[in-house]
Amino acid sequence: MSKIICGKGQELYKKAKKVIPGGTQLLSKRPEMFLPDLWPAYYSKAKGCKVWDLDGKEYTDVSYMGIGACVNGYANDEIDDVAREAISNGVMCTLNAPEEVYLAEKLLEIHPWAGGVRYAKAGGEAMALASRIVRAYTKKDILLFCGYHGWHDWYLSANISNENALNDQHLSGLEPLGVPKGLAGTNLPFHYNNFEEFDELIKRHNGKIAAVVMEPIRNDYPENGFLDHIRKVTEENGILLVFDEITAGFRLCPGGSHKVLGTTPDVAVFAKGMTNGYPLSAVVGKKEVMEASQGTFISSTFFTERVSYAATLKNIEVYIRDKVNEKQIEYGKKVKSGWENISKKYNLKVHIGGIDPLGHFSFDYDNPLAFKTFVTQEMLKRGYIASNSFYTTGAHSISIIDEYLKNIDEVFKEISDCINNGGDISTKLEGPCCQAGFQRLNG
Ligand SMILES: Cc1ncc(COP(=O)(O)O)c(C=O)c1O
Repeated sequence: MSKIICGKGQELYKKAKKVIPGGTQLLSKRPEMFLPDLWPAYYSKAKGCKVWDLDGKEYTDVSYMGIGACVNGYANDEIDDVAREAISNGVMCTLNAPEEVYLAEKLLEIHPWAGGVRYAKAGGEAMALASRIVRAYTKKDILLFCGYHGWHDWYLSANISNENALNDQHLSGLEPLGVPKGLAGTNLPFHYNNFEEFDELIKRHNGKIAAVVMEPIRNDYPENGFLDHIRKVTEENGILLVFDEITAGFRLCPGGSHKVLGTTPDVAVFAKGMTNGYPLSAVVGKKEVMEASQGTFISSTFFTERVSYAATLKNIEVYIRDKVNEKQIEYGKKVKSGWENISKKYNLKVHIGGIDPLGHFSFDYDNPLAFKTFVTQEMLKRGYIASNSFYTTGAHSISIIDEYLKNIDEVFKEISDCINNGGDISTKLEGPCCQAGFQRLNG
């Protein structure tokens, strides 16, 4: 296959790094995380699961689909028509947008255990809001957490007392620079399915813990009743349970994955799964807990804009009507079993993980990032925005996945040929290897 020609996107990204420290607003959209120096970087248009770059070249997105934000596909006509109507009727006004109320009613209908909703714009912001509310309600400071929950001070403070606390929860290299040292010891990590670690933290800090904050599911399924155990211990000790459903929500069912898993939290937080890309997040919680948000000041002008509420309501309606969760699971199963069969066929050591709609793989060899970069590079040549994760959506289809797996088969064969001939996959890269973790970029 001919080499990748660096297009307008990379030219623009070079300019971006001069005027935007770090190049982009989201680490996961940095071209360095995919294919440094060669990634198309910017889109001119996106529709369904198709993406066009700045040179007009068309690709199929079989990676993160808007970093997990577009469960009904890019530029979905039904949803965007509602957004366009909301724009025509005024994005912002001195009076409130009624859709704020309609959406709260819808979220409470989907989560009947809850009695109140507050909103923010981004996922991490809503998690900051949730952590404020649970601390306000319990009048306690300590949070026990598992997984990733955003960029805010409350979360990054985990790395003050232990600089590696977030390494295997989210990313390595996250210095808590700019986070007040006084927050040390207020956010303590535990690992998913690790009963001893969790119980030990409860024993050591009991009486001072406001809440346990975790994703109910993401990479692994709960083992040996882990979520039941967390719920039982939190209830027994007057500790609140916050489920971060920002990515897990609207994948296994309409609303929170906890509905399928059978464990009810005190607070659940939603964002990207819920909105099809419009900037809105929601903190949904038990009535008495959410009432605490009246005693602590949480208020912002742009929390009140209209378009994202209208679009989110439509997104949820379409999601439920089209049983999108069933498609996400079906497609995800097919993708994951495809990876497994192809790896076996070529005798490759590949680890496959993630819940079905959020599957991912990694190569179990020295320098796995070189393997990941190679897959991205070769798939880009074949017309795919691909990485080692596939977030399935209602915009994909069985035939798109069949075609994708045919191409993955060819790429995995190339890898296998390279290994069998004693070669080094990194010599086949046309640019630098992709990055993992958080790194400073040079402008
Ligand atoms: C589980 C989880 N929590 C929080 C966040 C942060 O959300 P946002 O990027 O919208 O701030 C993410 C984003 O990836 C997430 O997956």
